[in-house]
Amino acid sequence: MKRYIIKGGKRLFGEVDVSGSKNASLPILAATIISGKKSKLYNLPDIEDVRVTLEILKSLGAKVKKDSNKVIIDSKCIRCTVIPDNLMRKLRSSVIIAGAIIARFKEVSFTYPGGCDIGARPIDLHLENFKKIGIKINENCRYIECKCDKIESRNIVLDFPSVGATENLVLASVIGNQEVVINNAAKEPEIIDLANFLNKMGAKVYGAGTNSIKIKGVNSLKEVSYKIMPDRIEASTLLIAGAITSGSVKVNKVNPEDISVVLSKLKETGCEITVEKQSVKLIAPAKLRPVNFKTTPYPGFPTDVQPMFTTLLTLAKGTSIVTENIFENRFKFLQELKRMGIKITEIDGKTVVIKGVRKLHQAELYATDLRGAASMILAALAAKGTTTVNNIEYLLRGYECLDKKLNQLGADVLREEGD
Ligand code: EPZ
Repeated sequence: MKRYIIKGGKRLFGEVDVSGSKNASLPILAATIISGKKSKLYNLPDIEDVRVTLEILKSLGAKVKKDSNKVIIDSKCIRCTVIPDNLMRKLRSSVIIAGAIIARFKEVSFTYPGGCDIGARPIDLHLENFKKIGIKINENCRYIECKCDKIESRNIVLDFPSVGATENLVLASVIGNQEVVINNAAKEPEIIDLANFLNKMGAKVYGAGTNSIKIKGVNSLKEVSYKIMPDRIEASTLLIAGAITSGSVKVNKVNPEDISVVLSKLKETGCEITVEKQSVKLIAPAKLRPVNFKTTPYPGFPTDVQPMFTTLLTLAKGTSIVTENIFENRFKFLQELKRMGIKITEIDGKTVVIKGVRKLHQAELYATDLRGAASMILAALAAKGTTTVNNIEYLLRGYECLDKKLNQLGADVLREEGD
């Protein structure tokens, strides 16, 4: 078990670069399957979820050459259309690889992706909408088998603007002579990055970033080089690190417009925010003001930033109310933070009332999910004394060298490779 040992109570100052986006990288890596040619990707974050996705591509037959944040994938030799169960279980979002395999081979088999600690994370929206575009699905206890002669032109409406379902349907629809329109589509910036990547390969994906995406099938895709967008969730995490330690932090290589709602809420807490083209600077107030917010699909407050922002509010001067509308179990990490002296009341599983406290106490914590781990680290930075955050394997799935980045800002984080 790996852990971070954090000597807290230090105000963070300085500048740090944001890595490439985990949630843009995963669907783009899936998309490299479709062309059967070489794809060169830059600014890929060197994180566990990317490494597992590359393992899946190799298991299908792709050739992968990785050098830190750059990867060359040659998908010419891919022949296998079965996503290995052991890798599906490691990475639930690998279900979007299904859409890419269907685009090229018109068949795919995979097992149910595991849920995780933030919720059941079903894939019903993926499967029911696959059927609407002509994909036959046979579900047995072990595998989900998808087959189609061709993708059919359809105008579909998602019951919920699911990011993964939107991505899977776009990927499945890019090859052929059909025209698919996805209404009530997710509008996250990562969807735009996927569409930009596909269109650079010669696909015809229109309207990404709006709630209606039109995909006109083409015969083939070509070789491509592409730079992944910055990680807006990591940028938010680093800014909140500055806010929770009463410091002053500037994050570079970020698209400020991708986190405008988070920046507006940080201003409400009293933080001074300065935005430039590719950077954001935050100066924390002496005392944080309480703030209420609710998570919603983009462009609302992002669920992935909710745990870190909720942690910030445990130190505000007053009472805040947070409502999590996307995942049913995304407050679990707060049970661990109670060991540090936070004061919260859960109303109905979706809403917590946070009564700010003057300080947090050092503690021994155990992470159970990615953003919960990041939140525990932020709390540890604010608490005087030494806090240990165990199970940081969860963190390493989605953050590249967060310890190094925080230490560059004046923190004291020691990574220990436990037993
Ligand atoms: C993506 O997950 C992100 N992951 C998540 O980031 C992010 O929290 C989420 O979008 C929402 O923004 C990646 O991009 C790899 P959804 P995804 O489908 O696609 C329900 C992180 O921390 N739903 O938009 O799984 C689902 O249960 C991760 O980086 C169905 O009911 O999210 C959830 O309640 C966590 N049926 C809601 O929709 C389905 O078929 C949103 O899920 C699909 C989803």
